[in-house]
Amino acid sequence: MSISLSDFVHGLPKAELHLHIEGTLEPELMFELAARNGVRLPYADIEAVRRAYDFSNLQEFLDLYYAGAQVLQTQRDFHDLAMAYFRRLHADGGVHAEIFFDPQTHTERGIPFAVVVEGLLSAIAEAQATLGLSCGLILSFLRHLSEEHAFATWREAEPWLDAFVGVGLDSSEVGHPPSKFARVFEEARQRGLKVLAHAGEEGPPAYVREALDVLHVDRIDHGNRALEDAELTARLVREGMTLTVCPLSNLKLCVVSDLRDHPMKKMLALGLSATINSDDPAYFGGYLLDNYVATARAVGLSREDLIQLARNSFTGSFLPHGEIDRRLAQIDAYAAQHPHGWEA
Ligand code: ADE
Ligand code: ZN
Repeated sequence: MSISLSDFVHGLPKAELHLHIEGTLEPELMFELAARNGVRLPYADIEAVRRAYDFSNLQEFLDLYYAGAQVLQTQRDFHDLAMAYFRRLHADGGVHAEIFFDPQTHTERGIPFAVVVEGLLSAIAEAQATLGLSCGLILSFLRHLSEEHAFATWREAEPWLDAFVGVGLDSSEVGHPPSKFARVFEEARQRGLKVLAHAGEEGPPAYVREALDVLHVDRIDHGNRALEDAELTARLVREGMTLTVCPLSNLKLCVVSDLRDHPMKKMLALGLSATINSDDPAYFGGYLLDNYVATARAVGLSREDLIQLARNSFTGSFLPHGEIDRRLAQIDAYAAQHPHGWEA
């Protein structure tokens, strides 16, 4: 029986490792929460919101992303937001996710840290119970804010540290190098948390080096611009460093001007442990499955490439080793069942 590319990827067990939960706020839910919470939106209707999603760089996106997050106010809002994402991940054939949340986006406007975290944790428990998904939560610091602000957030997070798998670093990259947060990341590492940083999305290869050498990251989020530096690229290969790459995000934020120019095929050919992820799917026009399928079509990913990407999504995850091995065995079994991949 022949299957389509989309069916093939759908059935492939896979994890999403780069997803901002605030970036899954669909315009429909934005309007629903605005009505529920009495928030006035600067858009006439849902179509007007979608029309506004035309970005020429990261900052233009971030401005709308932070504005959209204003409708998130109660524990139930955060729960509903995350459940909508989990249902979508499940529908895409995803089985595990490690998701970022940006507490400062919410505490800055008076929403208690507890409201955000408890809403997300209750959704994670529900997704596990009802959809069989596993999920790790990553506290991400906003790099355009100060180190002091990050430390204040870190202290607020103290009662929930056991609930997080790691800390991340996101927001406006250029001008805010990883080294700005060396001390708070060191504390997080000392507490046994994994450490991640967005680097090389818009920032130079030097930021990727800093993420490695100063923050001692366990994963690099994006990492595209590392390819400009052959020595750095070779090091990432040698160290088996996972890159959480987000092709449709790269297209929407003009990191690449055409998906056919996306470096994913090259990354795999070089032996980089690249993964495919959706970043902020409500803003970038596609969830996990869309990212795989659009990238496969645009750059010509093979059956072996797609299997490698699915494998990388587990070997690069923070799941226990036994669980990673179990998922890799499932991928092997799936690959054996589909020796010819899909029908073009
Ligand atoms: N916050 C949400 N998405 C982001 C991205 N792609 N880069 C930096 N910060 C972000
Ligand atoms: Zn991101």
